[in-house]
Amino acid sequence: MPIRELHAGYREQVLSHFLQLSDEDRRLRFGTQTSDEVVHHYVEHIDFNKDTVFGSFDAQLNLIGMAHLAYLPKSIGAPHAAEFGVSVLPQGRGQGIGTALLERAAVHSRNTRIETLFVHCLANNKPMMHLAQKAGMQVEFAYGDADAYLKLPPANPGTIVQEAANEQWADFDYALKQNLKRSNNAWWWFLGRPALRN
Ligand SMILES: CC(C)(COP(=O)(O)OP(=O)(O)OC[C@H]1O[C@@H](n2cnc3c(N)ncnc32)[C@H](O)[C@@H]1OP(=O)(O)O)[C@@H](O)C(=O)NCCC(=O)NCCS
Repeated sequence: MPIRELHAGYREQVLSHFLQLSDEDRRLRFGTQTSDEVVHHYVEHIDFNKDTVFGSFDAQLNLIGMAHLAYLPKSIGAPHAAEFGVSVLPQGRGQGIGTALLERAAVHSRNTRIETLFVHCLANNKPMMHLAQKAGMQVEFAYGDADAYLKLPPANPGTIVQEAANEQWADFDYALKQNLKRSNNAWWWFLGRPALRN
């Protein structure tokens, strides 16, 4: 599953992705009811230089799945940690995109010296709990919420190569989809039908 690291130029697509989530999905993603206004504020304040944002694109280059890896402030004596938040649009679910985003984030975390990856989720979020447990995360429940932790081993040559290979593959996949989309649009234009948006 090709997963791309996103830069600030994707902010609009990230916003559009979140706005497409239903109220319930936003509650699961952010842990609370989240209005459009709060989503705007959240996306405006994502620091693409400090944190890492990953994306998965469908054939029309819509951002079908995305993950935000937020590095937590370093404190003396505590392991360097990051928080992982993920969402996949309903039409993309059950195809392994959430799993691929988590795997990609875990490898990236190892390569950036993160020792603990954690996900805060509502305890009744069955797909996320399943995803976390499948990834070997330890889950602790408290007051209807759950914190899932993953202790990460240090990076090794394998993780460096794995990340570089996935990045290259994701770039290739994106370029391929871009070309296919352009040629489809050219055909629609030739046949006198409306071009696909985006
Ligand atoms: C959680 C979420 C990201 C999963 O995305 P996804 O692309 O569907 O994930 P995957 O396809 O990789 O895996 C989903 C897994 O959950 C399982 N699953 C789905 N519904 C389930 C349920 N009700 N109970 C248990 N497992 C369930 C699937 O069978 C699959 O497991 P498998 O790979 O072993 O077959 C997606 O459901 C989502 O965006 N939810 C809303 C936002 C959210 O909850 N974010 C997490 C909090 S940060």
